[in-house]
Amino acid sequence: MATFKFSGPSPYKLPQTYPEEDALHTEYVNNFTLNHASKRPFKPLVGAIFGLGRAGSIHLSNIINNHRLTLKYIVDDRPERFADLKKYWNLSDKVVLIPSSESNRVYNDKEVNVVFIGSPTWTHHDIVVNSIANDKDVFCEKPIAENIEETKKCYEAAKAKNRVLFSAFNRRFDPSYRALKDRVRKGEIGHVQILKVTSRDSPLPSIDYLKTSGGVFHDCLVHDFDMACWVLGELPIRVQASATALIPEIKAIDDFDTIGFMLTYPSGTIVLGDNSRFSPNGYDQRLEVFGNKGMIKVENERPFHSTDILIGQEGVKHSPIYYSFPSRYKLGYRNELEHFLDVVISGCPMDVTDYQTLAISKIATAAEKSARTGQSVELDWSRDGIPTNYS
Ligand SMILES: NC(=O)c1ccc[n+]([C@@H]2O[C@H](COP(=O)([O-])OP(=O)(O)OC[C@H]3O[C@@H](n4cnc5c(N)ncnc54)[C@H](O)[C@@H]3O)[C@@H](O)[C@H]2O)c1
Repeated sequence: MATFKFSGPSPYKLPQTYPEEDALHTEYVNNFTLNHASKRPFKPLVGAIFGLGRAGSIHLSNIINNHRLTLKYIVDDRPERFADLKKYWNLSDKVVLIPSSESNRVYNDKEVNVVFIGSPTWTHHDIVVNSIANDKDVFCEKPIAENIEETKKCYEAAKAKNRVLFSAFNRRFDPSYRALKDRVRKGEIGHVQILKVTSRDSPLPSIDYLKTSGGVFHDCLVHDFDMACWVLGELPIRVQASATALIPEIKAIDDFDTIGFMLTYPSGTIVLGDNSRFSPNGYDQRLEVFGNKGMIKVENERPFHSTDILIGQEGVKHSPIYYSFPSRYKLGYRNELEHFLDVVISGCPMDVTDYQTLAISKIATAAEKSARTGQSVELDWSRDGIPTNYS
C-alpha cells in the first residue's frame, strides 16, 4: 500500500507517447493508420543492379522489397546462377538477367533511371560513367573507384549531367551511430578529445575477393575514416598507421590483416582505430567518443539483446554478437536505400557528398603510405578544393 499513492491517473486518461528513437514503430504506425502525410508522392523508379555477390545480395533483397522501385535488370558474371536466382526470388519474366558483356542493354534502356552497383571495385568506374552518360542516377558500393583520379572523374561526370552519385557508406545509416553523431554534434559531450573505433571484419573474405579489393585501407578502413570525420565534422591533418599481415595468405598478396591507426585533427581531437580482417568472435563494431563534458559509445549489437544465460557457477554468459556485416547492419543497408530514393525522387540533400568520398580516399591512401613507410603523413587540404568542414 505504501506506493499506491503514486499510481496516478489511468493510462487511458494520459496521452500515449513513445521515444522517437523507435523509428520502426513510427513506420508501423504509419502503415497501420495509412498515414498518407508520411509518404511523399512518387513515381516508381525502374532499376538495374550490377553484381550479385556478398554486397549485391543484400541490396537485391532490399530492392525487391521496396515499393518505390521496380527491378528490370540483373547483371552478373555468374550466369550459371541465373535460373536459381529467378526461382529463389520468384522473379517475373519481366526481370532480365544478363552477363556484363551485355551491359549496354541497361545503358541504352531509357526506362531504367537508377543503377545499383555491387560488382567488384575495379568495375565501378566504367559502370558509373556509362550509367551517368545515359542519364541514370547511381547507387554505388564503396569505394566509388579504385583511386582518387577515377573517383573524381565519376563525380565530374555526375555533376556535368546533374545526376545523383551516391557512395554507400552504410554505417552512417545505422540508427545507433546516427544517434551518437547527432548527440555529439549537439554538444552533449562537449569538445571531443578522443574518438576510438574498433572494426574487426567477419566473415573472413575469400583471397580471390581480397586480390581485387583495393587493399584493406580502401576496402575496410574507409568506413572507419568516414565514421570518425562524420562524427567530428572535420578532416585530419596527420595520419599515422601501423599494419601487419599475420595470416600467411594475406601476407602473400601484400595486403594487411591487423592495423592500428591514429588521426590528428585541427581542433586537437585524436582518433584511435584498430582493425582486423578476421574476428573469430563475430563482426566486432564499436565506437567510443570522449569529450570534456562526458562520454558516449556504441557497443556491439546482438541477435538476442535481452538474453543472459546463467548456468551453474560460471557467471553470466551473453548471447553472441552479430556474426557478419549483413546481419549487424541490416537496418543501415535498408535505410541507405531509402535515403538514396529520397534523394532521387524528392531531391533531398545527399548525405554522402563528392568531396567527402574524395577526402576519405585521400586519408586511406595516406594511411596505407604511413603503414608501408613507417612515417606519419601530413595532410594539406588546401590544394584539393575539399572543404575541411566535413558536414
Ligand atoms: N558496404 C559494405 O558493407 C560492403 C560489404 C562488402 C562488399 N562491399 C563492396 O561491394 C563490392 C562487391 O564486393 P562483394 O564482396 O559483394 O564481391 P563478390 O566477389 O562477393 O561479388 C561480386 C559479384 O559481381 C559479379 N561481377 C563481376 N564483374 C561484374 C561486372 N562487370 N558487372 C556485373 N557484375 C560483375 C561477380 O560475378 C560476383 O557475383 C566491392 O566494391 C566491395 O568493396 C561493400
